[in-house]
Amino acid sequence: MEKLLPCFAVLFLVAFTSIVRADPDMLQDICVADLASTIKINGFPCKNNVTADDFFFAGLGKAGNTTNLVGSVVTLANVEKVPGLNTLGVSMARIDYAVGGINPPHTHPRATEIVFVIEGTLDVGFITTGNVLISKTITKGDVFVFPRGLVHFQKNAGYETATVIAGFNSQLQGTQSIATTLFASNPTVDDYILAKAFQIDTNQVEAIKSKLAPKK
Ligand SMILES: *[C@@H]1O[C@H](CO)[C@@H](O)[C@H](O)[C@H]1NC(C)=O
Ligand SMILES: *[C@@H]1O[C@H](CO)[C@@H](O)[C@H](O)[C@H]1NC(C)=O
Repeated sequence: MEKLLPCFAVLFLVAFTSIVRADPDMLQDICVADLASTIKINGFPCKNNVTADDFFFAGLGKAGNTTNLVGSVVTLANVEKVPGLNTLGVSMARIDYAVGGINPPHTHPRATEIVFVIEGTLDVGFITTGNVLISKTITKGDVFVFPRGLVHFQKNAGYETATVIAGFNSQLQGTQSIATTLFASNPTVDDYILAKAFQIDTNQVEAIKSKLAPKK
């Protein structure tokens, strides 16, 4: 039994570290982000002169402008808007969807996302690394979870606008939108790579790139 104890200790450590998957723990009460600092650390350095406004944001009260290619807009309340969130491992967003709008397939490398439907009906889903689609239609009052790092999306499935509030277990969830990551990066990804990956020809790659390229 005594010989086994160190093994259990190691197993426990491995199990424990493998389930701690949010931002790292803080070592003080608050560390309000000094967003103007030129010092580069994991997160932001703490600033001295803290006020209540560092923990406040009024930007989620109104619907965002959904007039764009996909018909949805994400308004983030993360550490860049709420400096007091620095090192706290949590943030929020509001997502608005026009009729027929989608939030295109994307991933958050640093956060699991949990959404709460304020208004409307949405088809939502995520895809596991085993390529299984987990999807559902959700409506006002419902909650749905998108596990960290997995590709996910939402579509307004109703006849009116839709709105959700999202929570993230990171101060800065990060977003990679699959289509724009691949077809609108700067510099651009080689046409040959995208043509082979999607089994299309390079003219089709160019056509997609021209639609997704940032407006000059
Ligand atoms: C702290 O903030 C207050 C109010 O904005 C300002 O009057 C004061 O000069 C600031 N102090 C420092 C050290 O930056
Ligand atoms: C919404 O965005 C579109 C496209 O950028 C713009 O033409 C329109 O004026 C904006 N609407 C409002 C209410 O700001």
